[in-house]
Amino acid sequence: MSTLVIKDLHVAIEGKEILKGVNLTINTNEVHAIMGPNGTGKSTLAAAIMGHPKYEVIQGTIEIDGQNVLEMEVDERAKAGLFLAMQYPSEISGVTNADFIRSAINARRGEGNEISIMQFIRELDKTMEFLEMDSEMAQRYLNEGFSGGEKKRNEILQMMMLKPTFAILDEIDSGLDIDALKVVAKGVNAMRGENFGCLLITHYQRLLNYITPDYVHVMMQGRVVKSGGPELAKKLEAEGYEWIKKELGIENTDAVIEKEEV
Ligand SMILES: Nc1ncnc2c1ncn2[C@@H]1O[C@H](COP(=O)(O)OP(=O)(O)O)[C@@H](O)[C@H]1O
Ligand SMILES: [Mg+2]
Repeated sequence: MSTLVIKDLHVAIEGKEILKGVNLTINTNEVHAIMGPNGTGKSTLAAAIMGHPKYEVIQGTIEIDGQNVLEMEVDERAKAGLFLAMQYPSEISGVTNADFIRSAINARRGEGNEISIMQFIRELDKTMEFLEMDSEMAQRYLNEGFSGGEKKRNEILQMMMLKPTFAILDEIDSGLDIDALKVVAKGVNAMRGENFGCLLITHYQRLLNYITPDYVHVMMQGRVVKSGGPELAKKLEAEGYEWIKKELGIENTDAVIEKEEV
């Protein structure tokens, strides 16, 4: 079993504090959902875990099995087992999807331990079929001209090929029709097990009808303000976020509250 522990995490962008003390522990064999209104810091948390250079950790710790993640470069974090599926994946012209995934796998495996071409192709074919992706997608340039749904499916393909210990999926459901949503859920559910933990960031409850989370957390004002089981997501679907705001006396859920001009 592996454990990702985030303690009292404070993160700033360009000197503005966005995250104000996030605490979260994720074990393998667990799926955690983070929900919350827009602008509450969900993507900032994802970026900070993965080590985006623009996001400055000003306080707190992130550890995997006691290893200090904050000291690692992005590639070292990937080697340590972290994976981020982006809310807005980049298009990279000139690099085919297959080459990109194989390079990523080999970078993680290290020199002398590269995956054989045959094994790679076999696994890629099998996984693309599982995700109901057209096989020509392997030879297209990474995300170039992909539809929103294809980009998201492709992030799941990368996840399944890379087999991370902890995957962070940032709004993987946004812009997906119901069929694509089911395929994405199928991919995540197939990964569940002893060697996989997942942080699902989502704005809507809809995805959680297909991926039942073990824990649900609500983020407001750059903090986790409420945690529970899957029933919390159901309640949010039925009743929205207002009751939590009322319960906690929160008026504005934004992570950054712009001061009103006087
Ligand atoms: N790269 C960035 N540069 C400047 N401000 C940012 C950046 N990323 C996020 N923010 C600000 O941080 C706050 C939280 O954003 P974000 O983490 O994207 O929220 P969420 O994912 O919950 O919608 C917002 O006020 C947003 O404008
Ligand atoms: Mg976001």
